[in-house]
Amino acid sequence: MTKIDNEIIHKQLNWRYACKKFDPTKKIRESDWNILVESLRLSASSYGLQPWKFIVVQNPEVRKQLLPLSWGQTPVTDASHFVVLTYKEKMDEQHIDHFINQTAQVRAIPASDLAGYKNMMIGDLVNGPRSAIIDSWAQRQVYIAMGTLLTTAAMMEIDTLPMEGLDPIAYDKVLNLEGSGFKTVAAVACGYRSQDDKYQTAKKVRFALDEVVKYI
Ligand SMILES: Cc1cc2nc3c(=O)[nH]c(=O)nc-3n(C[C@H](O)[C@H](O)[C@H](O)COP(=O)(O)O)c2cc1C
Repeated sequence: MTKIDNEIIHKQLNWRYACKKFDPTKKIRESDWNILVESLRLSASSYGLQPWKFIVVQNPEVRKQLLPLSWGQTPVTDASHFVVLTYKEKMDEQHIDHFINQTAQVRAIPASDLAGYKNMMIGDLVNGPRSAIIDSWAQRQVYIAMGTLLTTAAMMEIDTLPMEGLDPIAYDKVLNLEGSGFKTVAAVACGYRSQDDKYQTAKKVRFALDEVVKYI
């Protein structure tokens, strides 16, 4: 495997910015999009449970409906791809079984070998104290996937806008999520910046390294 140079990684991390204005004529080619989707699917999650669904809204009419529900932010309609990040609102034995069976199959081991792991997850997230905060637990996992997507896109020189500026309940209605077990938490617009997006030249505002990183 070819290691990516540190300078290139640093350059791309600086290249990324929250793109406020996308060029509606520029589309992400399919082979690139497939990698971005993989970055979501391959993202880390607690226990590996993947309590999420990523909805890629391709229908322009639906995107128009989402625009006023997103503070009028034009990336919703103008970006090449628009992904709504949703989380699984309840963790249940069925989902954990699905994951255990998948693990057993992929790793060619009997599911019974994973009984201890399964019971630990159930004891923690289904019946344990964390079941009371399962919403925020699942949302946190989704944000890891969001970060993975942003970073992957930056390495590919694909622009993104992470978005919390939206009405999640109204999104759930438009996307027919009610009763599905999944709820909107945020979205990411992906595509290519418009040349007149003034934010692309704005300097990054970050606290100094020694203010945010502490070595002990
Ligand atoms: C979870 C999250 C939600 C955000 N929501 C919005 C949003 O709705 N609209 C927007 O213009 N920017 C949004 N941003 C972008 C941030 O304002 C931006 O990342 C921050 O100011 C740092 O700037 P930079 O990403 O350009 O370096 C969001 C960022 C994150 C991480």
